[in-house]
Amino acid sequence: MSGHGTPIPMTSRKCGPLKGVADVPGDKSISHRSLILGAMAVGETRITGLLEGEDVLDTASAMRAFGAEVTDHGGGSWSVQGVGVGGFAEPEQVIDCGNSGTGVRLIMGSMATTGITATFTGDASLNGRPMGRVTDPLALFGAQSYGRAGGRLPMTIVGAVDPVPVRYVVPVPSAQVKSAVLLAGLNAPGQTVVIEKEATRDHTERMLAGFGAEISVEETGEGRVITLTGQPELKPQDITVPRDPSSAAFPVCAALITEGSDVLVPNIGLNPTRAGLFTTLREMGADLTYENERTEGGEPVADLRARFSPDLKGIDVPPARAASMIDEYPVLSVVAAFASGQTIMTGVKELRVKESDRIDAMAKGLRAAGVTVDEGDDWWTVTGLGHGNVKGGITAASELDHRIAMSFMVLGMATQKPVSVDDGSPIATSFPIFEPLMASLGAQIVRANH
Ligand code: S3P
Repeated sequence: MSGHGTPIPMTSRKCGPLKGVADVPGDKSISHRSLILGAMAVGETRITGLLEGEDVLDTASAMRAFGAEVTDHGGGSWSVQGVGVGGFAEPEQVIDCGNSGTGVRLIMGSMATTGITATFTGDASLNGRPMGRVTDPLALFGAQSYGRAGGRLPMTIVGAVDPVPVRYVVPVPSAQVKSAVLLAGLNAPGQTVVIEKEATRDHTERMLAGFGAEISVEETGEGRVITLTGQPELKPQDITVPRDPSSAAFPVCAALITEGSDVLVPNIGLNPTRAGLFTTLREMGADLTYENERTEGGEPVADLRARFSPDLKGIDVPPARAASMIDEYPVLSVVAAFASGQTIMTGVKELRVKESDRIDAMAKGLRAAGVTVDEGDDWWTVTGLGHGNVKGGITAASELDHRIAMSFMVLGMATQKPVSVDDGSPIATSFPIFEPLMASLGAQIVRANH
């Protein structure tokens, strides 16, 4: 759980070249799903490379509370003794999902058709986020929800005793909503159909197929139509979690803006539903190459090599790419500050309901650091000042948002004056080794205010 302890101020100052190998942790999305699907399978799922960040550890605790045996064998190696689809026990305590929207929304889906009742809560960030986007479709299965005004946590879900299958068109581009509906569909009889107009990360679909569920995906005029046959017996799996492209984004972007840098970030999944940032950076003129391109576990993987790129230019990021880089806009806005010209980001309304309002959080800090940022409900622009010209000298509010905290730490690596955040503790939710890893490359990040 983040945000419950003492704030940890952090400061990043201009550093020499970043050099070396950045071994980033396991993918957060895949880690959550490994634990949840493992808990819904019959038998033992073994997981290596699990992200041991607070978000995922909260999901591990939740799966234990629902009756699965979850064991940490050390070094990222875990096992889950599943209870089968529909086999969850009613938790005795409130389920605290900490900072994690993915955790709470996917778990709500997985229990909503099991006829048990569970109450969910989280930290101040999570308790401010909308849950109606998940409880609306779960109601169609027959589940009831009782939360605070505006569909906020804490919230109790009373699972459907006799669930019915659902056909649901996801109204916002959200892999969490899509996944919650699919996980609920697992314990409904017949076929549950989920339609998304814009493709979002497809880890749930891929993993459900891997666990032996009958699932098909069809591209139609209406969108991506996903059809899942309910009440399968899920077969336990041996899962190797790939490394997280969303974490790789930080050393990659840091290297691009820090003079003389040359950083290798190995084994990064380049699933097209996740790799939008890297395409964007290359369009901006980044010296970012894919080495040793290969396929692993059905996913495209490469070693990313990022070198200092003094001549970045602002670009128009197409809205159709938004879902494939939704978590990377904060750090893209930092790179955009060092580019020449304007970077235009449209179709990004969802950024306003993440761990923080990410447009607002980045705009405030970047403006204070001397960068012009304009924004509307669904768009924002950053007018770059070119390399060497961003002032810095600020303390930004991280707003209980790990990606905001890390983005400002990257900013400080190339600004004239240091950049601080009021609280870097949320970084532990997704990237617990961020500080030592960045230090090993040559970054200067300290736990203090500047
Ligand atoms: C995630 C989906 C995205 C993303 C989040 C992880 C997932 O959220 O921002 O960090 O694992 O399904 P939305 O579904 O709200 O877009």
